Amino acid sequence: MNVQTVAQDAFKNKVILVTGAGAGIGRQAATSLAAHGATVILLGRTVEKLEQVYDAIVASGGPEPAIIPLDLKGATEKHYLDMAATIESSLGQLDGVLHNASELGVLGSIEQTDMAMFDEVMKVNVTAQLNMTKALLPLLKKADAGRIVFTSSSVGKKGRAFWNAYAISKFATEGLMQVLADEMSNTNVRVNCINPGATQTGMRAKAYPAEDVSLLKQPADLMPLYLYLLSVQAQENGQSIDAQPK
Ligand SMILES: NC(=O)c1ccc[n+]([C@@H]2O[C@H](COP(=O)([O-])OP(=O)(O)OC[C@H]3O[C@@H](n4cnc5c(N)ncnc54)[C@H](OP(=O)(O)O)[C@@H]3O)[C@@H](O)[C@H]2O)c1
Repeated sequence: MNVQTVAQDAFKNKVILVTGAGAGIGRQAATSLAAHGATVILLGRTVEKLEQVYDAIVASGGPEPAIIPLDLKGATEKHYLDMAATIESSLGQLDGVLHNASELGVLGSIEQTDMAMFDEVMKVNVTAQLNMTKALLPLLKKADAGRIVFTSSSVGKKGRAFWNAYAISKFATEGLMQVLADEMSNTNVRVNCINPGATQTGMRAKAYPAEDVSLLKQPADLMPLYLYLLSVQAQENGQSIDAQPK
C-alpha cells in the first residue's frame, strides 16, 4: 500500500476519538493527531494517564482535547449512546475513530482457558468496539470523510498456539472491520485495520518480558500509517494493513 504523508494541518477542524489514549500506541496516536491539528477525544480507563496526555497536547500548543474516562469492560450500550450525544452537543462533529484499546488477557492453551478471562477479553476487544461503533456511526456518516481504524495483530491473521482469547478477539476484529467496510462502501466512511507489529509498549513487555526491547519499533515509528488511514486522503476500505511489513 502507498502510505501518503499527510500535511501538517491535515486534521485541522477534525475531531478524532482515540481509545486507549493514555499509554503506548494510543498515546502516541493522540499526540501525533493533535500535532497535525486534530481535536482529540482521549478515551481510556485511567484518568491520570489521560490527563497527562491532555497536558502534553496543550503544552505543545495543540487544540484542547476532550477526555472520556471509560472502562470498556463495564461499559453498556447506554454509555456509548450517551457518549455519542455528548460528542455531538459539545464538539458538533466526529470525523474519525481509532479503536486501539485492547487487553492481552492470559496466554495459555485452549484446553486451559479461564472462561472469565475469555469473556473479559472479548468484551473489551470486540463487543465494546462494536457497541461504540454502532453508537458513533450516525455522527461519522454525517462527516465529510468519516474514518474508522481498528487494531489487529499478527495472531489475528494466523492462529498461533497459546495466544488464546487475544488471538480469537483479533480474528473477530478483522471480521468486524470487513463486514462494516462492506456496509460502508457506498458512503463517505472508510473502515480499515492496522496490525502494528512488534512495538515497544506495556502490552508488548507483558507478552514478551525477556526480549531485547532495543530491537523494537517505537510507537512514533508507526504514525505515518495511522495518520494516513485516519485522514481524508485515505480511500482504502476493508484493508488489513501491516505497519511493519516483512
Ligand atoms: N505493542 C505491540 O507490539 C502490538 C502488536 C500488535 C498489536 N498491538 C495492538 O495495538 C493496540 C495498542 O496496544 P499497546 O501495545 O499500545 O498496548 P498498551 O501499552 O497496553 O496500551 C493499551 C491501552 O488500552 C487501554 N485499555 C486496556 N484495557 C482497557 C479497558 N478495559 N478500557 C479502556 N481502556 C483500556 C490501556 O489503558 P491503561 O493504560 O489505563 O491500562 C492502554 O491505554 C492494541 O489493540 C494491541 O492489541 C500491539
